[in-house]
Amino acid sequence: MKTIGLICGSLRKASYNRIIAETLPKLDDSVQFLQIEIGELPLFNEDLEVDGDPTTVTQFKQAIKQVDGLIIVSPEYNSGVPGVLKNAIDWASRPTKTSVLINKPVGIIGATPGGMGTAFAQIQLRQSLEQIHVQVLPFQKMLISQVHTKIDIEQRALTDEKTNTYLNRYLKQFIEWMHQNQ
Ligand SMILES: Cc1cc2nc3c(=O)[nH]c(=O)nc-3n(C[C@H](O)[C@H](O)[C@H](O)COP(=O)(O)O)c2cc1C
Repeated sequence: MKTIGLICGSLRKASYNRIIAETLPKLDDSVQFLQIEIGELPLFNEDLEVDGDPTTVTQFKQAIKQVDGLIIVSPEYNSGVPGVLKNAIDWASRPTKTSVLINKPVGIIGATPGGMGTAFAQIQLRQSLEQIHVQVLPFQKMLISQVHTKIDIEQRALTDEKTNTYLNRYLKQFIEWMHQNQ
């Protein structure tokens, strides 16, 4: 069975994006999911690489290596990619020629209480990932606007039917494409 790694670009406990990430495993049981955490990674610094990666970085890279594909679920900060997520991507991009991200199939999902559905952050993220020779799911986009009206925070559940349908469709397309890419 294939495994999809899930990375959330928000460290907030009540993160809408984390709740969306938690929804994905409930939508499809033909694959398994692995939550990959980024909150304990140090700030990227080339000096830290000299004596070998810190343990958290090694574990992070190992987790990415072992999954067949990745779905990143992230908010947008100031029309861009949150620093914590960019930091994680920068770590995973090293060493450049043997990065665990090379050719990894990746999907991008984003949720925001705002109206633009994290469109700017997704464009930036796609650009950085393509630089690392990641395969980003082409054509499909999964942008969730006004997410605060679509989630029950107490239940940690996506309650909006339409969004659930779109998310399900996106996930199915990602899985099919991931199979074709391997
Ligand atoms: C520093 C900062 C910058 C933000 N910039 C944007 C933005 O550019 N676009 C947007 O849609 N929301 C922006 N927001 C609002 C976030 O979408 C909102 O806080 C969201 O709930 C964060 O995602 P999370 O719930 O997964 O933590 C920003 C929030 C913070 C803290």
